[in-house]
Amino acid sequence: MGTARSVPFFRYQQAFTMHEEAYTRIFQDVMRRGAFIMQKDLEELEQAIASYVGVGHGVGVGNATDALEIILQAKGIGPGDEVVFPSHTMVATPGAVVAVGATPVPVDCGPDHLMDPAALEPAITGRTKAICPVQLNGRTCAMDAIAEVADKHGLMIIEDSAQALGSKYKGRMAGSFGAGGMFSFYPAKILGCMGDGGMIVTDDDDVAHLAFSLRDHGRGETTDAERWGRNSRLDNLQAAFLLWQFQDYQGIIDRRRAMATMYDELLRDVPELVLPPPPGSDPDHYDVFQNYEIETERRDELQAFLRENEVGTLIQWGGKPVHHFTALGLDASLPGTDRLFERSLMLPMNLTLADDDVEYVAATVRRFYGA
Ligand SMILES: Cc1ncc(COP(=O)(O)O)c(C=O)c1O
Repeated sequence: MGTARSVPFFRYQQAFTMHEEAYTRIFQDVMRRGAFIMQKDLEELEQAIASYVGVGHGVGVGNATDALEIILQAKGIGPGDEVVFPSHTMVATPGAVVAVGATPVPVDCGPDHLMDPAALEPAITGRTKAICPVQLNGRTCAMDAIAEVADKHGLMIIEDSAQALGSKYKGRMAGSFGAGGMFSFYPAKILGCMGDGGMIVTDDDDVAHLAFSLRDHGRGETTDAERWGRNSRLDNLQAAFLLWQFQDYQGIIDRRRAMATMYDELLRDVPELVLPPPPGSDPDHYDVFQNYEIETERRDELQAFLRENEVGTLIQWGGKPVHHFTALGLDASLPGTDRLFERSLMLPMNLTLADDDVEYVAATVRRFYGA
């Protein structure tokens, strides 16, 4: 068990070569049909994902950052408005808020690494319009508590569910809790394409109608522009690759959950580690393990040791929560998030890993702690 090997954090080339034959066939088919922009592959993917999430509409866009910006715009959020979000997220979340002219307000995360519902009320002002929970690492927030605050203050919920396609809270899918949600198809995402891609999901007909228009130069059913828009259409070739992968999406989730179970079984007796809750341990949550983010003592030393032993790890967002990007002016005191960022580390978690890879990573972590 755990024979020495190299386990990079993600094997980008393998994401293609693992399915090279299928992708080449799809490429030839799409090219031969000349089906480049907004063709049936995109439409089928939009319908498949919307129905999977349990909402009325899917709108394929260029990336998940545009998706969030378009939802905010469609809900009329703009200058003078504030949107509350957790600082443990990609800069894309507040970036989308700034792009529509509104102000992002960062709040702390809790022990589950997700937005802390208790941190919301102090952050709400007369200008707050929306709460933007981030369904991070493939886990959906305890949405009951967030919805309670939103209802009490008359706020919208708009989800950053970029990392959480298929994740559920109390049986309900990430992306389906508020006015809109979105998914990222960045190559390292659970459902990843070979470039950029994203999708809006919404049950709100008006949001969907606006989103279809805003992603396509503000055009409506005809080529007349009905409003100012942008070009952010999900590329039809990428949609075709995604549609093929999506046929066995449950298989992809099952494999990630199996790897999370392996890490848990191999590492849970190491006292220096705090591991994510293993699959099946909490009936309220169904996690899809976009990431396997642990907390650990002597994190930097562990990371260096793993690197020496050819195991790639990452600290999310380059090692800093968003409120520490000083150039952005999001200065805030968020002690829970700060403490987490002294301790958090992501172990490899993706479909290019074999069981032996997972065993080697776990064995190397154990070796570091003398376990
Ligand atoms: C939490 C979160 N939000 C937003 C994004 C942005 O997604 P995209 O790269 O598709 O714009 C990402 C992508 O990494 C993400 O992880």
